[in-house]
Amino acid sequence: MYIKEIAVFLVVFLAAKYFWRKRRFFYLASKIPRSNFDFSWKGIYEFLTADSKKIFEQIYGSVKGMDGIAKTWLGPVLFVIANDPEDVKIIWNSKECYDKPYFVKFPGIYEGSLFGSIHAWQTHRKILDPYFGNQKLKNFLPIFDEKSKVLTRKVGEMLGKGEFDVFHYMTALTLETILNAMELNVDIQNLEVKVRDLTIKGLERASKVVTKRIVSFWLHPDFIYKRTKYFVAEMKAKSHSAFTYVDDVIENIRQNIDSGEEVNIKPTSFMRALLDSKHDLPREEIVDEIRTLLIAVNTSALAMSSSLLLLAMHKDAQNKIIAELHDVLGKSPNAPFIDFEKLSQLQYTEMVINETMRLMPVVPFVARRVENEVAVTKGYIIPADANVFVPIYGIHRNKSIWGEDADQFRPERFEKENFQKIHPYAFIPFTKGPRMCLGYRYAMALMKVQLANFLMQYEVDTSLKYEELEFELNITLNVCQGLRISIKERK
Ligand code: HEM
Repeated sequence: MYIKEIAVFLVVFLAAKYFWRKRRFFYLASKIPRSNFDFSWKGIYEFLTADSKKIFEQIYGSVKGMDGIAKTWLGPVLFVIANDPEDVKIIWNSKECYDKPYFVKFPGIYEGSLFGSIHAWQTHRKILDPYFGNQKLKNFLPIFDEKSKVLTRKVGEMLGKGEFDVFHYMTALTLETILNAMELNVDIQNLEVKVRDLTIKGLERASKVVTKRIVSFWLHPDFIYKRTKYFVAEMKAKSHSAFTYVDDVIENIRQNIDSGEEVNIKPTSFMRALLDSKHDLPREEIVDEIRTLLIAVNTSALAMSSSLLLLAMHKDAQNKIIAELHDVLGKSPNAPFIDFEKLSQLQYTEMVINETMRLMPVVPFVARRVENEVAVTKGYIIPADANVFVPIYGIHRNKSIWGEDADQFRPERFEKENFQKIHPYAFIPFTKGPRMCLGYRYAMALMKVQLANFLMQYEVDTSLKYEELEFELNITLNVCQGLRISIKERK
């Protein structure tokens, strides 16, 4: 008889209990100004039905021109957006913000350093850190040299064939270098084209689906998502990706170890460290870490391809980089081995890479979960359980930081006397603080070696116009038109 009344009472009671328990959360949230996000029904509808290009435009639009912190709600989830480098510094260095939001688990890599639990992150980072320092980098340089020369030869097949997307070549290179650095000698660049493309495109397709899931809060619960076409698409994409390829290799090594066979992996390799029984890492954690590295390293493929595209659009910068390369490495199109010393002399090359990552940061936004409340500047307090979102792309293009020409490609802004005037947390392609990218030295060295080899051999050109570039969000920042360049032999 009273079922309806009891149900209403229960709902009201539970809601009141929830709001009472979360009263401080809502109180602190109410003090934070709203972002520019359009909260009308139309704005929300447009956001939720947008494609990856629109999603990027809407997220960027919602933070453009903002300097302090601001909030936005994605369904019931609170996002605090930190646009001010001083706030970013506080957040990334606070132990209350080491954790990542639940949706970073959506790529399905549960126990790697990038997306895993705090425990997995701390253990893996401790094991891997020593392998990514400056000294160890020297061990990787011969691999970078060999593999980038293979790529340079391979890309020669596109001479005289017009424009092509250089990203797929670069992805094969970066996957191969990291696998070789782990002593998994997989020859991706020379795989049969069809298999190679599937391996690479599999990862690309999977990240498109995962991005869609992240921005569509109704797809967040597993029991709903697993019944949708997106889940089917994600599984299909992954089953054709580099993941399966690598899983088989790891399984083989593991079986050899278990059966007491000698494993042909140098003690200096970080793969050996991950497998070392003294760390006692479960197999799933090792696999997840290797998958993490495969995804992470691929970001350098995007940054290198973007650098080539921007150089193809800015011939003055291309001429300057060539002058530097000839100066440091000589004039032969076949670049010599680039050792540590030569690497550090490639200053302008580094400025071009930095300027590329400023304008086209591979990871345009990063998010953290706030465990206990954190006080930032201007008296604001970010409540526990909020997610903090740092719009790297927005900070990199903020005119009040970078000047009126913030949208222009000008590598000279990274010259020492110019760059030292910029806030240290205003240029953050690898983020900063204890969770900063593990592989940033690796990435910078690989990109310099690869650009040097490539540009000594080929002149790059494109019909794309810088002003017409459009971006889309697929976890990473992608150019809608593709990273299309044409090459001709450099004279
Ligand atoms: C241009 C190239 C690269 C860019 C722009 C980049 C960027 C990033 C960013 C933004 C993060 C997230 C950091 C955070 O949450 O605060 C990250 C994490 C990470 N990156 Fe990179 N990355 C690059 C290359 C690499 C390479 C080459 C490797 C490995 C060889 C690597 C390994 C990792 C790992 C393991 C993490 C997780 C670190 C942690 O949570 O402690 N990255 N990277």
